Amino acid sequence: MTKVLIATDKPFAPVAVNGIREIVEAQGYELVLLEKYASQDELIAAVADVDAMIIRSDKATKEVIEAAKKLKVIVRAGAGYDNIDLAACTAHNVVAMNTPGQNSNAVAELAFGMMVYMARNFFNGKSGSELKGKKIGIHAYGNVGQNVGRIARGFGMEVYAFDPFMTDEQIKNAGATPVHSAEEMYKMCQYVSLHIPATEQTKKSINYDLLKNMPKGAVLVNTARKEVIDEEGLAKLMEERADFHYITDIAPDCDCFSKFEGRFFATPKKMGAQTEEANVNAGLAAAHQIVNFIEKGDEKFRVNK
Ligand code: 3PG
Repeated sequence: MTKVLIATDKPFAPVAVNGIREIVEAQGYELVLLEKYASQDELIAAVADVDAMIIRSDKATKEVIEAAKKLKVIVRAGAGYDNIDLAACTAHNVVAMNTPGQNSNAVAELAFGMMVYMARNFFNGKSGSELKGKKIGIHAYGNVGQNVGRIARGFGMEVYAFDPFMTDEQIKNAGATPVHSAEEMYKMCQYVSLHIPATEQTKKSINYDLLKNMPKGAVLVNTARKEVIDEEGLAKLMEERADFHYITDIAPDCDCFSKFEGRFFATPKKMGAQTEEANVNAGLAAAHQIVNFIEKGDEKFRVNK
């Protein structure tokens, strides 16, 4: 019998697990569940006899892929797939997929939750500031970036976007003013929201030199990945500039940020995509993609081409 594993250290909402179960069992497949596991060894043991698996930020390392002797398809229920060893997947004939767009509204809403929280001084009662009329620069204008743009327009912000993979026309049609370099955008915008993936090219690319030119009262918003930040450079800048703020859904590795009281905020646990709606959208999309691949060989959304 075809076995599908959901391996989520950060579990989906129960309604999403039930929805995935229905899709999988309607095909006559078996669903197994591994949630909140204590160690990577538990994950390695759980993959031994599965044909397909659904993960979130769970680390699908070479060891995991090699231990999954029967694995044919792995779906990251979400956008970023930097947690999957794609080379190992390809070497073992495993198709790797993501579910782009399915959780993007949730992530974008959290970005605004954090922006308002910071602009209103963590709701401590002191006079804060408004988002209306401020310039926001969206770094990468894909699914999450465009949702940020939509919400920003609702707040009355001026919306700019830099995305080297989009034409000016595409950016304009998606409601933002195109900017042609990151440098230009960071110079202009008090708010910058990051939506770039973590790749060899982008790691540590948000650095001192780029950030130092942001206008007074700068706010860097990170709902992307901690790896894209040059933490040393950012911390140095925050030492030098008492007006610089950093709000993030992914706690930095360096504990040096906690001293920037009133200018730094990190969620206790990455929670951008942690809504029932996003869990259902991404989880069910992952289940459908697995069924379509196993039954029809459909490789749409494959990322290890
Ligand atoms: C994504 O890449 O889809 C988001 O970062 C969400 O990740 P999560 O599923 O681990 O919450």
